[in-house]
Amino acid sequence: MTQPNLIPASKLPALGTTIFTQMSALAARHNAINLSQGFPDFSGPDYLQARLAYHVSQGANQYAPMTGVLPLREAIADKTAALYDYRPDPEHDITVTAGATEALYAAITALVRPGDEVICFDPSYDSYAPAVTLAGGVLKRLALQPPAFRPDWQAFRQQLSAKTRLVIINTPHNPTATVWSDSDFTALWQAIAAQEIYVLSDEVYEHICFAEQGHASVLAHAGLRQRAVAVSSFGKTFHMTGWKVGYCIAPAALSAEIRKVHQYLTFSVNTPAQLALADMLRTRPEHYQQLPAFYRARRDRLTQALAASRFKVLPCTGTYFLLADYSALSDRDDVSFCEWLTREAGVAAIPLSVFCADPFPHRLIRLCFAKQEATLDAAAERLCQL
Ligand SMILES: Cc1ncc(COP(=O)(O)O)c(C=O)c1O
Repeated sequence: MTQPNLIPASKLPALGTTIFTQMSALAARHNAINLSQGFPDFSGPDYLQARLAYHVSQGANQYAPMTGVLPLREAIADKTAALYDYRPDPEHDITVTAGATEALYAAITALVRPGDEVICFDPSYDSYAPAVTLAGGVLKRLALQPPAFRPDWQAFRQQLSAKTRLVIINTPHNPTATVWSDSDFTALWQAIAAQEIYVLSDEVYEHICFAEQGHASVLAHAGLRQRAVAVSSFGKTFHMTGWKVGYCIAPAALSAEIRKVHQYLTFSVNTPAQLALADMLRTRPEHYQQLPAFYRARRDRLTQALAASRFKVLPCTGTYFLLADYSALSDRDDVSFCEWLTREAGVAAIPLSVFCADPFPHRLIRLCFAKQEATLDAAAERLCQL
C-alpha cells in the first residue's frame, strides 16, 4: 500500500518564522542589546503580582466565564466611560481574550467571509494578514508614506468597493509611532458610513500616547462605534506581555459573533490573572494615567542620546517604539542593515519593510524603548559609535 503524502499543502505558504523571533534569536547569539521585540525588560507593578498570587491562593483556579470575569468586564466598562465618554455594556459588549492577538483573530474570523475585501494601512502589524487569508478574505493594503505616515483619504475612497467588509486601523501605530486624531476618524466615517463596513481598531497602545489631545479612540466616535471592534491589551499597559490578557469592545450583535469564535478558540482566559487585573484597574488607575509620562521619559532619553549619532530619529507620538533613519550610515536594505547592526554593533532592531507587502525602499529601523534606562544608555552608546 502506498503511503499518502503527509506534508499538508500550507494554507499560509508565504509565512515563515516571524522577524521578531529571528531578530531576538540573532540578538541572543551575538549577545546584543535587544531593542527589537516589543516587550519591556522590567516587570509589572508589585501590587498586580501580589493580587495574582492572592487569587491563586484563594482557589480562583478553574475556568473563567467564557466572556471574562464580571469584575474585570465592569472595570473595563468604567475605564472606557471615564476615558472615551461611552460606557460599553459589560454583559454584552466586552469580551476578555488571550491577548489582543486573539481578539484580532476572532474579530477577523467572525466578520470576514470568503471573497470579502479588507483594507489595512501598511506598514501594518503582522497578525492581521494571516487571519484575513485564513478567513478567505482579500487584503488591500494602502501604503503610508514616511516621514508623517498619514492616511491618504482619496486613495482610501478609491480602494472601497461593494466587497469591502472591514477596515483595520491601529492607533497609536506600531511600527511608525504615529497616532490618529479625531479628524482621521471623521474622514473614515465619511468614507464608509453609507456601506455595511466594519472597523477593527487595534488600540493596544491606548495608554502610551504622547499627543497633547490624548488618545483618540474609535469608541469616542458615536457613529463608528456602532460598527467597530476596539481591541486593547493589558500586556502593554501593565508591562506584562507574557500574561496574554486583552479584550475587545464591540456592540452586542458584533460581540455575539466574535464570542462564537472565541468560545472555540480559547473558550476562556486565565482566571486569577483576570481577577488581579480587575483589582489593578479599580485601585491603581494612576498606573495607566501616568504611563505616558513614564514612557515619554524613556523616549526622550533615547532620542537625546541618539542626537550624537548619525541616525536621524523620527517624531514619536505614541507606542514604545522609535523610528531611526540610517541613510547617513549605510546603503544596505533595512533587513541586512539590522542583521549587520546586531552582529557588528551589538544592538538588535526591526527593519520596517517586514511590516509591508510592497517594497519599502526607505532606510528605517524600529527601536523599542520599553527598556531600563541602563539598557537604553548602553544601546545608544553603541549606536553613537557607528
Ligand atoms: C499593534 C499590536 N497589536 C497587537 C499586539 C498583540 O498584543 P498581545 O500581546 O496582547 O496579543 C501587539 C503586540 O506587539 C501590537 O504591537
